[in-house]
Amino acid sequence: MGKIIIKNQEQIEGIRKSSQLAGNTLKYISEHVKAGVSTAYLDKLIDEYIRDNGAIPAPLNYHGFPKSCCISLNDVICHGIPDEKTILKDGDILNVDVTTILDGYYGDTSTMFTIGDISEEADRLIEDTEHALYLGIEEVKPGNYFGNIGFAINRFAKAKKYSVVYQFCGHGIGLEFHEEPQVEHAAPRNSGDLMKAGMIFTIEPMINIGKAKAIIDEKDGWTARTADQKLSAQFEHTILVTNDGYEILTDVGEYNIFK
Ligand code: MF3
Ligand code: CO
Ligand code: CO
Repeated sequence: MGKIIIKNQEQIEGIRKSSQLAGNTLKYISEHVKAGVSTAYLDKLIDEYIRDNGAIPAPLNYHGFPKSCCISLNDVICHGIPDEKTILKDGDILNVDVTTILDGYYGDTSTMFTIGDISEEADRLIEDTEHALYLGIEEVKPGNYFGNIGFAINRFAKAKKYSVVYQFCGHGIGLEFHEEPQVEHAAPRNSGDLMKAGMIFTIEPMINIGKAKAIIDEKDGWTARTADQKLSAQFEHTILVTNDGYEILTDVGEYNIFK
């Protein structure tokens, strides 16, 4: 096990500002997510919004990623690459994942959007996945085990007959995009490191209607799809461990995700 960074006040303030910008980017894009637009168009708007606010989109060129955000539709679990030929249509569900670098500090958040009339099972999956994220967040406090985040998420998902993706994890964040530790979304109770005040990490459960297994697209090397081609949903926040619990750094309040 390596070292989990404890952030100082100056770093926390910087990461909070970047995280708020990432959250506000999702709020901004929510007005533009609708049937008939391409995912490349949304990516362009996101890129412009982030730069207009004095920041840089972290995904662009990250290990060769070609776009400024990830947009993952339907059976895509994560790391979907925005493109001109993917046009949003009635019944689609999608995750938009935004990571900003502001004054060198990183913030990372994602949410689900829906297009027109979606199936009842898709609607339930989205609601339950967001609930699962908040069950994980509730476990965040000094002295608790990281494993209890994944334990809480997986227990709920299992009770609802879903599966939790295990091939991608949450992660420490702030001075880099991906820092230690890996935050598992399915884990044994009381496993892993202990949380301490000043740690910052993401929780970003990916939950599938069918089997957990993800397959990465051979052609682009990024797009992760469910092996059984059933639906997947994801929500993500950047979380600070405070002296008595947590602060959701990417929380910018409620906004309407339903289009
Ligand atoms: N934002 C993603 C995460 O939550 C990572 C995307 S990596 C990229 O960790 F290269 F695809 F952008
Ligand atoms: Co993340
Ligand atoms: Co992300």
